Amino acid sequence: MEQSIKHIGVFTSGGDSPGMNTALYAIAKTAEVGDIKVSGFRKGYEGLIDGDLVQLKSRELQKITQKGGTILKTARSKRFLELEGRKKALHTLKTNNIDALIAIGGDGTFKGLLAFLEICDIPFIGIPGTIDNDIFGSDYTLGFDSAVNTAIENIDKIKDTAESHNRVFVVEVMGRDSGYIAIYSGLMVGADAILIPESSKDFINLLDKVKNYDSEDAFLVVVSEGDEIEAELVSSKIKEINPNVDLRVTRLGHIQRGGNPSALDRMLGIRLGVAAVKTLLQCKKNVMARILNNQLHLTPF
Ligand code: F6P
Repeated sequence: MEQSIKHIGVFTSGGDSPGMNTALYAIAKTAEVGDIKVSGFRKGYEGLIDGDLVQLKSRELQKITQKGGTILKTARSKRFLELEGRKKALHTLKTNNIDALIAIGGDGTFKGLLAFLEICDIPFIGIPGTIDNDIFGSDYTLGFDSAVNTAIENIDKIKDTAESHNRVFVVEVMGRDSGYIAIYSGLMVGADAILIPESSKDFINLLDKVKNYDSEDAFLVVVSEGDEIEAELVSSKIKEINPNVDLRVTRLGHIQRGGNPSALDRMLGIRLGVAAVKTLLQCKKNVMARILNNQLHLTPF
């Protein structure tokens, strides 16, 4: 059974992630095949509340499909946390005759959708877009692979100088409460220790290793920003145990969020964008489209 949808609204929300523009392009292109209009809301839920929308055309989006960030801009909306804000957003959807909504974002975005469900009868689909890879049940979230590639590229450089000086480097990567970026990038650069929020033993292991470190080589620690022990503290503990070390701390920061999406993220953006529109046309609603074991799955919110 095909659902009669004439106008889809889409927005990006939370932290931007490489691949969001690719997904927007795929959504617009797939919708146009079915003669469906697509409007993009600017600045995530803020645009929904304020009625700030723009029509999206695949021909235009095709030009920026390879670019990082999000052409629609993004925000973490405080107003949408309030019922008043959500009522205004519903009003926007109704007055603009939006039949369905696609949200691209992370866990905060999806929590917002869940709350919206209580008052909104318009079907929606979620696309997991965050560098943190912290959405349960999907192989990768949109942007994670690109962020890891950026982290690797930069840590490789740090490793060059660390090797040259026989220095200890503590490199902090992003991920909020999730250690995926740290694990992936740490393994791929050959780190001596990786500290993630999901483990507390990793710090004890690090201290054990560092006790016998003789400064005859580099020593590289990759620590996730969400770890219970943050980078500066890690560094002072290392110095406490081994006062002779020559140590530097580098925080990679928002560099991990920018840049053109990797091949994997572009493909993910295309697959999830196409799937989101097709899912709506198949009368399914209020699910997240995700790829697990390289297969498309739909998960109820
Ligand atoms: O959720 C994505 C993320 O980049 C996290 O890894 C990080 O903790 C956070 O956003 C940073 O947020 P902001 O851009 O508001 O500083």
